[in-house]
Amino acid sequence: MTFTTPLQRLTRLALSTLLLMLVGVGLLTARTGTALAAEASPPVDSAALSKAVVAMEQLDQLRISLASTLEGRTEEPTIETMKEVCKPVGMRAIAIGKENGWQVRQVASKYRNPDHALANAQERQVIDLFHRHPEINGLWEPATSEQGIGLSYYRRINVVPSCMACHGTKASRPAFVRENYPDDKAFNFKVGDLRGMYAVFIPDKQSAPATLVNVSD
Ligand code: HEC
Repeated sequence: MTFTTPLQRLTRLALSTLLLMLVGVGLLTARTGTALAAEASPPVDSAALSKAVVAMEQLDQLRISLASTLEGRTEEPTIETMKEVCKPVGMRAIAIGKENGWQVRQVASKYRNPDHALANAQERQVIDLFHRHPEINGLWEPATSEQGIGLSYYRRINVVPSCMACHGTKASRPAFVRENYPDDKAFNFKVGDLRGMYAVFIPDKQSAPATLVNVSD
């Protein structure tokens, strides 16, 4: 599970993602009429914002490099090889959340693990936007009222050829998937399809009391 992408490449990725995010926030705002996160003074410090973007690029690269180790293998993936792909990505997502005080989830309309179902209206709107706009890689949204004060970063997950071993046709799914995920919906994907998204909620711990003071003044 070593990760060798050079920092330069990541920085370039992060920058292009930041640009796309701005476009994304604009588009989503135009559609939903929600507050424009980029215009309001962001309640979360900018270092955390760029850290979240880079962390999700790394997480996505981790899955792609793990899945690519299966390419060219003739034997069907077993429970052991499965443990080397999406399960560790999910565990890494949770660990990134714990390390930073964020909540990091993978979510999808067609999910395999029911923990990854879409959780609220905002997630449904964002996944719908990613569906309709394949050019949007990531975007920010203000936290929902249930979440409290903070920002959420969403980053798309696309299907690449190495995913097909386990997310292709229903009949071609490996036996361990059929057995362990009786309510599986995560099949019949094609290369280039939207598979789901990463959802990162960054709560605002520091500036929340100050914001409240300003409001009551
Ligand atoms: C070896 C089989 C295998 C391969 C290859 C694979 N996946 Fe998965 N995928 C799974 C399994 C099993 C789960 C459910 C994991 C869990 O229980 O959290 C899953 C879950 C996911 C999830 C979380 C949402 C959900 O449906 O639960 C995403 C997103 C995902 N896969 C994307 C991909 C992408 C993108 C690729 C290719 C880069 C890929 N997968 C390749 C087996 C695989």
